[in-house]
Parts: sequence; structure tokens; C-alpha cells
Amino acid sequence: MEPRRNLFGLSAQAKALLIEKLSSTPPVRSPGLVRRSDPENDDNAARLDVSKLEGFREIRMIREAAEFLGISDPFFRVHEGIAGAETVIDGRSFVNFASYNYIGLNGHPDIVSAARAAIDRYGTSVSASRPVSGERPVHRDLEHALARVHGTEDCVVLVGGHSTNVTVIGHLLGRDDVIVHDALIHNSIVQGAMLSGARRVPFPHLDHEAAERLLRETRPRGGHALLVIEGHYSMDGDVPDLPAFIAVARRNRAWLMVDEAHALGVLGPRGFGTADRFGVDPGEVDIWMGTLSKSLVSCGGYIAGSKDLVDFLKVAAPGFVFSVGMTPPAAAAALAALELLECEPERVRRLNDRAALFLRLAREGGLDVGGSIGASIVPIVTGSSIRAGRLAQALFDRGVNVQPILYPAVPERAARLRFFATASHTEEQIRDTVDILLEESRRVASEPSDLAAVARHLGTRSLFSR
Ligand SMILES: Cc1ncc(COP(=O)(O)O)c(C=O)c1O
Repeated sequence: MEPRRNLFGLSAQAKALLIEKLSSTPPVRSPGLVRRSDPENDDNAARLDVSKLEGFREIRMIREAAEFLGISDPFFRVHEGIAGAETVIDGRSFVNFASYNYIGLNGHPDIVSAARAAIDRYGTSVSASRPVSGERPVHRDLEHALARVHGTEDCVVLVGGHSTNVTVIGHLLGRDDVIVHDALIHNSIVQGAMLSGARRVPFPHLDHEAAERLLRETRPRGGHALLVIEGHYSMDGDVPDLPAFIAVARRNRAWLMVDEAHALGVLGPRGFGTADRFGVDPGEVDIWMGTLSKSLVSCGGYIAGSKDLVDFLKVAAPGFVFSVGMTPPAAAAALAALELLECEPERVRRLNDRAALFLRLAREGGLDVGGSIGASIVPIVTGSSIRAGRLAQALFDRGVNVQPILYPAVPERAARLRFFATASHTEEQIRDTVDILLEESRRVASEPSDLAAVARHLGTRSLFSR
């Protein structure tokens, strides 16, 4: 049969490069082989044709390769109820490790009734931005509670976690400034930095000495410097040495920002986050950022810090001033969840115990768990997207739902399965899952994918016969 040379509009060489990327074989150095569209000479380029974009073609090809390997699409699976330690997909029950419901609060009756009461009183929308008639008491109640938990003077909540980072970093920093951030920092921080126009300088993951060196080298005369870290890294489940980063920030006159998205409800004896874990004065950090979508089972983002910082953002940050106020049920749900976190710290202990058990068993079984501390996130690094996709599929077939994290979301060699433990998982669920994981990883490793067949299927000149 004739090879399908033009499938997806990518050249044979471009397909070959992509398959190599997805299987972690050494890269072929052939710049210029990947065909780019040439809008100047393409009559059709005047109208948007998404199928002509290189990224679109890459994704189609990844899907086609996955289908050929018998891996069903692991994205956009429809969960039919609350996704906690268990979930139902397509009428089938799974043990679930793919949700942020860390302390098992989603669907808690107190939270559901708080959200219902907020709807009864204020409706489903505040119908305006907060400065112009969108303010409701529940917004300030939530902000006061978040400031209390973080030990800061004040707090402001915004409608999205990602957009909080984009708008706040994008607005606080400018062209004359520098943003020094962990190389594995969340996309929202990178996007905010790009928006700001500041110079963006990543430092090797967790390396505070490198951060200091880069701050010294790049700190602009007259400009500001922002040092950004996560309290608990979302892909790796590891943590920075906060006291060391505070010292670096102080020595180099940099503002320090800590993203607590995966730290609140997870780290510290009370689950109050990174300051709680390290017992440091929260005032040593200039900007605490967090999201309401993880432990607090709602939706939105926030900044906690000094009164002046919060006042300024409330009149100046475009994503706050020109965006609708948080919906009443979302704000009420987050507030009720935060109050439960304060009253029931045993949820945090149970979460940490379950995650630590998962980590220990996986490590004893010889799996690569990276630098995870086993507080809630445990990655199983497979080093290849194809292997991660096959392993996730094998687990799914055996009743375990876990998300594979694939290229291009992470570099190919960092492809992995990411397990989110929760306080609701039983010890038995953790033990059974790791047993299945060990069995299936051995099986996947012993039956390598036929990359030559994938290449033939995609109509690529075979570079994979080796
Ligand atoms: C570290 C970090 N910051 C920010 C966000 C964005 O939060 P949200 O999903 O609530 O928009 C995420 C999301 O996962 C995250 O992991």
C-alpha cells in the first residue's frame, strides 16, 4: 500500500521528528525539515484555517499514533458525578487519582448548603465587576478568611486561578524589570511574565543558589526584581526550601511570590500551606498567590499580602477591575471549605498519610517518583509519552483513572502519570493501585511499542528500523 505521505500536511521528516520526540529516541538534528506555512505566498492564509497550523497537525498526528497503538484519548473523559477517591465514567466505576479534591471536600453537605444559600440570596451571578456594583458580603468574608489562614493583612479574590497570575504579574511588573522563576513554574506565571514585558529568567528547578546568581547578574538598575516559586510543585510534588528563597530575595532586594495552588490544604500541620510547613513569618513573602479550585473545591484565584498590595490590585489589576466578580456560590463554597479545613486538620493528616504510603510503595517497587515528598502529588515518570499513554490505558482498563502528562505539556523525557492522592482514598485502594501499577509497568516495559509500524501507519519514511 502507498504510504500516506501527506497525512496531516506534515512532511515525512516532520512526522519522523515528532514520533522520535514521543518515544524519547535521540533527536534528529535537521532544522529546516519541518515545513512552516508561508502566509506571504499562501492565498488561503487570509482566512483562518486552523488545520494549516503546525500545532494542530502535530496534535492530530499524536492522536492518530495513539489510536494505532490502542490508546484511547485520555482527555475530556466525562465524569458522571463527584470525582473523589472514586468516580464514574461511562457508567463504570473507577478508583480515581486524577482530581484535585485533596481533602475530600467536594460535595460536603456544609459546602453544598452554603453554595445553595448564596444562590438563594444573591442569584448565580453578581452581574458586574466588583468595583461597579458587583460587591457582595461573601466576597469580603472569603477574603478575610484567606488572609487569616495565610497570616497576611488582606486578600483579594479573582474569578480564575490562571488569570490571577496573568493579570497580577502582568500588571505589577514592566519592561524595565526582571522576573526570575523556577524552570518548572506553572504556565500562568510564564504567561503573566510575558504580558508584563519584563525580562524572564528561569533558574534550575528548586536551585536557590542558581536563583541568587541569576538575580545578581540580571537585576536591572532602577528596575524591580520578582522571584517566583511554587510552594508545592504541581507536576512533581516536591517543595522549595522557603527560608533559603526568602534569604535570597532579601539579599537581592527582590520581591518574593509563592504560588500556593497545591500547598493550601496539603502542606503544614494545619494545611495552611508553605509558611505553615516551614514555620516562617508569612510577612517575609511579598505575594502569596493561591487558587480556590484545589483543596477548596471551588473556582477562582487570590492574592494575599499587605493591605497596600491588595488595595492597589483592587483598583488597578485589569483582570480584577474589568472582570465580573466571583459568583456567589463559588465564593460561598470556597469559604465553607476553608472553614472546614480550619476545623478538621485531620483531613490534611489523612491526605499526607495516603500520599506517603503511595510514594513509599511505588519507590520500593522501583518506580521513578522524581523528587516527590509524598504530600499529595506522586508522579510516575515513564520518560516517554507513548509509554505514559500505554500505562495510563492499562490502568484504566483495570479500573484506575490517572492522567498521563505527555509532551508537549512536559518535555518528552519528563512524560509521566500524575497521581493525586486524596484524604478519601482508603489504604486498600492505595495498595491495590500500586500493585496494579507495578504489574502493568513491567508488562508495558517488556512489550515495547513497534515504532516502525507507527511510522509506516503515519506514512513516514522509516527512521525507526533500529
Ligand atoms: C501552580 C498553579 N498555579 C495556578 C494554577 C491555575 O489555577 P486554576 O486551575 O484554579 O485556574 C494551577 C492550576 O492547576 C497551578 O497548578
